[in-house]
Amino acid sequence: MKNSILFQNARIVDPSCGRDEVSDLLVENGKIAKIEKNIQAPDAQNVDCTGKVIVPGFVDLHCHLREPGFEYKEDIESGTRAAAHGGFTTVCCMPNLSPVNDNAAVTSYIVNKAAQKGSVKVRPIGAITKGLKGEELAEIGQMKEAGIVAVSDDGKPVMNSRMMYNAIKYAADFGLKVTSHCEDTNLAGNGVMNEGYHSTVLGLRGIPRSAEEVMLAREILLSETLKLPVHICHVSTKGGVQLLREAKARGVQVTAETCPHYIALTDAEVEGYDPNTRVNPPLREREDVQAIIEGLLDGSLDCIATDHAPHHRDEKMVEYEVAASGISGFETAFSVCYTALVATGRMSFEKLIEKMTCAPAKIFDLDCGTLGVGACADLTVLDLKQNWTVDAKAFLSKGKNTPFDGKPLTGKVMATYVDGKCVYGEEAK
Ligand code: DOR
Ligand code: ZN
Ligand code: ZN
Repeated sequence: MKNSILFQNARIVDPSCGRDEVSDLLVENGKIAKIEKNIQAPDAQNVDCTGKVIVPGFVDLHCHLREPGFEYKEDIESGTRAAAHGGFTTVCCMPNLSPVNDNAAVTSYIVNKAAQKGSVKVRPIGAITKGLKGEELAEIGQMKEAGIVAVSDDGKPVMNSRMMYNAIKYAADFGLKVTSHCEDTNLAGNGVMNEGYHSTVLGLRGIPRSAEEVMLAREILLSETLKLPVHICHVSTKGGVQLLREAKARGVQVTAETCPHYIALTDAEVEGYDPNTRVNPPLREREDVQAIIEGLLDGSLDCIATDHAPHHRDEKMVEYEVAASGISGFETAFSVCYTALVATGRMSFEKLIEKMTCAPAKIFDLDCGTLGVGACADLTVLDLKQNWTVDAKAFLSKGKNTPFDGKPLTGKVMATYVDGKCVYGEEAK
């Protein structure tokens, strides 16, 4: 195998340095060696990219790879293949595993397994509290040495404010951020969808927006009091965006992500009781979707994460009330966002790529998300003109649980390279 690749005649879009031009890109020994027009590299393998776009590989701050413990839903091998299929080259995986990633042994297991079986780079997120129980802080320092890039009790919100206060402080001592799943569990109760018109009509128990917003406000206040950073998971409400906007204007060190499904779908999708629309936080209403998009545009929301949450068919193909929450998101993330934001003229293509590459990389201080010369050749080839229809059966993820199945989308991931190696696309076959 040649150790240099010449991508020819691509539109190269790299928001980390403001580049948007048609050019060649040379990869040597897994690194970006040169970006220029008409590069001569006779020994390199040529990849004709005429009509295609090259962007930095996508960076996901929030996914669930389910290993160890829930390999029947997903494992590191299948999950990272799905990530590569979706154009992701670095993914941060949540600790709600069995055993929970609350100690260095589990972190090391994930890091080692990803090195052996992973198609893309995996950066684990450690638990805030032991066993995600909210009672006692986990061994954050030891997990940091083993490779975690943030801490979170995602899925099990930390209800005790003193615990969260201590966690933000303790994590900061190790140069880490808390990434918080904001949900007041008492307020959310046993709701299964957004509380509003549709929950009433469908006769399903509702989760009020305030269940998310009171906790988001708490994290902002703790961050402000401590003068330390906090990152907010999967923002879904208009009120949440406004809280972030105001906090940022005051200089609070808060950053936040939203997910493709909060950009593209509303709770009207729950009509028909398709359990694939069940996710936590739940799909909201049109005004929330509008506010989420405005938040991305004005910087109140920093980035887009997938919250890829694969589940087994048997956990989803049951009554709505008892179905597992979560969406298998890697393989539709880019196209859903491109279709909803860029194809409609609401957001520039460059802004979308920023929200999926350098913006998330900066939040967890990850060494990726750029096509700078000398950087790792983690890159994604896109065809923005392709129209395609989602077919969950064709997912590489074990989790086929998507509310986008059968939906037409525009813009497609054609190939993904990690350290100059093709991990998805024709050459990977
Ligand atoms: O919908 C969700 N699924 N929300 C969460 O917070 C957890 C996740 C999961 O692990 O399945
Ligand atoms: Zn969550
Ligand atoms: Zn999650």
